[in-house]
Amino acid sequence: MADVVLKDVEKVYAGGVKAVRGAHLQIADREFVVLVGPSGCGKSTTLRMIAGLEEISAGTIAIGGRVVNDVAPKDRDIAMVFQNYALYPHMTCFENMAFGLKLRHFPKEEIRKRVADAAQILGISELLERKPKALSGGQRQRVAVGRAIVRKPDVFLFDEPLSNLDAKLRVEMRVELHKLHERLATTMIYVTHDQIEAMTLGDRIVIMDQGEIQQVASPLSLYDEPYNRFVASFIGTPAMNFLDGVLEAKGDALEFVGDGGEVRVPIGAEMAKKLSDHAGKPIVLGIRPEHIHDEASGAAVKAAAKVTAKVEVVESLGDQKVVYFAQGAHTFIGKLDAHVPVESGRPMCLIFDANKVHFFEKVQGRNLTCRVERYEAPDLAKLPQPVGA
Ligand SMILES: Nc1ncnc2c1ncn2[C@@H]1O[C@H](COP(=O)(O)OP(=O)(O)OP(=O)(O)O)[C@@H](O)[C@H]1O
Ligand SMILES: [Mg+2]
Repeated sequence: MADVVLKDVEKVYAGGVKAVRGAHLQIADREFVVLVGPSGCGKSTTLRMIAGLEEISAGTIAIGGRVVNDVAPKDRDIAMVFQNYALYPHMTCFENMAFGLKLRHFPKEEIRKRVADAAQILGISELLERKPKALSGGQRQRVAVGRAIVRKPDVFLFDEPLSNLDAKLRVEMRVELHKLHERLATTMIYVTHDQIEAMTLGDRIVIMDQGEIQQVASPLSLYDEPYNRFVASFIGTPAMNFLDGVLEAKGDALEFVGDGGEVRVPIGAEMAKKLSDHAGKPIVLGIRPEHIHDEASGAAVKAAAKVTAKVEVVESLGDQKVVYFAQGAHTFIGKLDAHVPVESGRPMCLIFDANKVHFFEKVQGRNLTCRVERYEAPDLAKLPQPVGA
């Protein structure tokens, strides 16, 4: 069992930088959890505290039920893969992968077997006698992962391991890591600032901003139920649009009226109940670009809000086009089918899907219609089974 628990963990660096504040996190055994957030938000610091490479300033960290606050990194049964693979240039791949085991005085035969097994899993058996300089970036990355695998740790920690690779290789290695997790059935904690990598790899994702955890949830609930405006804008490309306005009472119902009065979005009964305290107050409407339609494709939308806006810029992505619109004081982005006729500088009639909008507090940014808790529990049934179980 290697679950990882962080309770009230804080990190204050010398000089007073509060890098991590009040971190609560419960990572299940065999789970793949991704820490994601903008540069400087405290991802690496959190990972390094779990590894024991950074002292914690307050709180508790437990691995496999054992508090490790005062346990040295080498005694924590974890293996870490860094962004710069840090392979020894004068050693062959075999020697690089074997090095940690040798230091721990493993018998020669056991070392040979473990390295051979790891090399087979990673598809680098042919490369074992080469030195790192004779390898491609992706191959070096595999050797670095192999060096971690041979240890058979309880927990793998990855800090942006793919960021030195080109886009195509990143996607390939991402798939490999996914398979590796299924195969090893080991707890993995992975740091990245790339939201696509986070969404595709994580059983659950931890979104951080300015040293604080903003939300912990599965990729789908992050997308559907962002806890606050930060999460809403971080997940999804192009990012969610935000429009300032007020909620107006209309009989028993509510209607969002955007600043300037032109954008009007009716609010369904269920949502209106949650928002009743906010009638007459400033509020922010959030709508994703994929929930803005042209008139033809919007005909199927049940709760349609019509908005006329001027086309500012059109970006073609091949199968789709990303269109920048302006409507009075509002600007927003729509993602439309590539074949929809769109002309820069012209007004266009759009359909907002009113069932897909979110409402945020204007100042604090809380999502007022979010139906999930800030910390979602892991789905244990979905985790890979250990081999032989
Ligand atoms: N050794 C240190 N001494 C002082 N401040 C530090 C130290 N290491 C990191 N910091 C600060 O702590 C904060 C969090 O840093 P951290 O490296 O955890 O961010 P990160 O989320 O990993 O960012 P990135 O995506 O750029 O790697 C930053 O403000 C950083 O400047
Ligand atoms: Mg970092």
